[in-house]
Amino acid sequence: MRQDSHKQEAARAALNHILPDLNPRSILGVGTGSTVNYLIDALAEEKDQFEGAVASSEATAERLKQHGIPVYDLNAVAPPRFYLDGADEANKRLELVKGGGGALTREKILAAASETFLCIIDESKEVDIVGQFPLPVEVIPMARSYVGRELVRLGGDPEYRAGFTTDNGNIILDVHNLDLSRPIKAEEAINQITGVVTNGLFAKRPADRLFVATATGVTEKAA
Ligand code: 5RP
Repeated sequence: MRQDSHKQEAARAALNHILPDLNPRSILGVGTGSTVNYLIDALAEEKDQFEGAVASSEATAERLKQHGIPVYDLNAVAPPRFYLDGADEANKRLELVKGGGGALTREKILAAASETFLCIIDESKEVDIVGQFPLPVEVIPMARSYVGRELVRLGGDPEYRAGFTTDNGNIILDVHNLDLSRPIKAEEAINQITGVVTNGLFAKRPADRLFVATATGVTEKAA
């Protein structure tokens, strides 16, 4: 599929960008999703260039280990020099919607803790205003109905992601029709609801660099 080869090209471009800055003690933060899976496969070919990785999900940790890349606890290592991850939407300010794969909380922790956040997408994810993609919100299970009502008060239509439990033991509400035209304000407002762990808006901490795979190659954007 064309989109798959685009994801692979964006992943390789991001990896080529960081390679000159890596050394055998470097720790990388690694996100989650199909684009990141291509990145992990590419990282496997360069595993002598860095020490190991901190994973944003159990699935990513598993794939890294299968490739022989050491996986560390974030609390046991220095802040990662780079965090690499995909996104569901990205705007011109490099503000993102993430969490389609349900790993948003650990992804947000790694984005916050890392020095530089590189985001890798194909051009179908570029938008003028984020919010077409339903916003994933991680919620403590007992707060599901309460948080749902509060999200309706904010103008959204929350949909329970049935049969899905996050790596942290929580549930996801995918919220349709929210006005996210002021992403930082929306991110803060949703995170104020008691019972919300976090939401998939990455606006307070956007990406630092965006690698966008297009039919004619990968373009690179900086914040
Ligand atoms: C997972 C994420 C992913 O980065 C996002 O869903 C994009 O995934 P993909 O690379 O499969 O399109 O936020 O929680």
